[in-house]
Amino acid sequence: MSDEHSQQSPAKQLELISEALQTELNRFSNVQARTRATVSLSEAEKQLQELKDVRTKLLGKKSGFASLKKLIGRLPSEERAAFGQEIQQKEEEFVREFDKEESLRKGFIETARTESESLDVTIPGRRPRAGHLHPITLMRQRIEDIFVSLGYAVEDDREIETDFYNFDALNIPEGHPARDPQDTFYTTDGFALRSQTSTVQIHAMQRRGAPVRMIAPGRVFRRDTPDPTHNPMFYQVEGLCVDRGITMAHLKGTLAEFVHRLFGPETRTRFRPSYFPFTEPSAEVDYSCFNCGGPGCRICKWSGWIELGGSGMVHPNVLRAANIDTSEFTGFAFGLGIDRTCARIYELDDIRLLFENDVRFLEQFK
Ligand code: FA5
Repeated sequence: MSDEHSQQSPAKQLELISEALQTELNRFSNVQARTRATVSLSEAEKQLQELKDVRTKLLGKKSGFASLKKLIGRLPSEERAAFGQEIQQKEEEFVREFDKEESLRKGFIETARTESESLDVTIPGRRPRAGHLHPITLMRQRIEDIFVSLGYAVEDDREIETDFYNFDALNIPEGHPARDPQDTFYTTDGFALRSQTSTVQIHAMQRRGAPVRMIAPGRVFRRDTPDPTHNPMFYQVEGLCVDRGITMAHLKGTLAEFVHRLFGPETRTRFRPSYFPFTEPSAEVDYSCFNCGGPGCRICKWSGWIELGGSGMVHPNVLRAANIDTSEFTGFAFGLGIDRTCARIYELDDIRLLFENDVRFLEQFK
């Protein structure tokens, strides 16, 4: 009890304390009335705690009200009963009021919590988005299936190479002009991202010796500026067949069979003389357009033919770099671009679509 109050008569003190209690209670009931409709759960929890604190402060054991109750025993006997009754009445009244305010908030809190935690079991669940294979993967798998059925093994090899495997062993010594069009990305410690899957020819021959028959699909990297038919990163599939008595006829027959199986038995092949340092003779391979079959259309750019890739008879220097006896073995090799073939088959105008990862585009290949 404050000194100021203790100077007053007990009745006056009770009146002042009651006024203070009533003011606080009014404050709470006003707040409650104003905010009932909009109060948030956290606001209601805050109000409840505040209410408990005020109750302890004004009605608790250390409150002015409690001190006043202790005075009862010291009052003259004729005043004691009446004052005792009055203070008890007041106490009951305030306890009731506080209980009421508290239970209003507790009720609100309980309802709000139940609502926020309730589950509507009738709402349909969220389906996890199922992924699917990328068009490049679909294309690669089709190519692999064909060559596996022709007795080829599938090799998977490194993408980071030394100059030896990317160039020297493929008969492209330092300073050779053939290094320029296939310029690639170098690391500071003498490694480079492979610019063609032909590197796997050397690894496969070193690992397996001869005879060997394998394909190697994989990513390659070049300093090419992106455009509708070029990407700095793209996929190739290398093919290699080394055995006794292998000739250009085997190469032509193998690729003819490949395009028959991929595009249909009416598809024809065409071999144009070309140059690759690691094959001799070398040829570019084209196949007749699967769409128009020859007269020309939008897909074959009105030529009737579509480029498949490069090919040729493995150069003896390449066989020697892999320790294959050139007096006993010969071989053919080819390298096809998967992205461009994929673009032709799916009628894409631009191979860059294959790397943009736009879900609206990719979803069409489900
Ligand atoms: C080569 O890479 C040779 N290694 C192919 C080869 C292998 C010849 C074995 C002889 C024996 P070329 O640079 O032409 O050749 O590439 C082969 C195919 O890769 C092309 O026909 C084309 O389909 C694809 N290609 C080349 N550059 C790009 C590019 N920037 N973006 C997408 N595809 C490309």
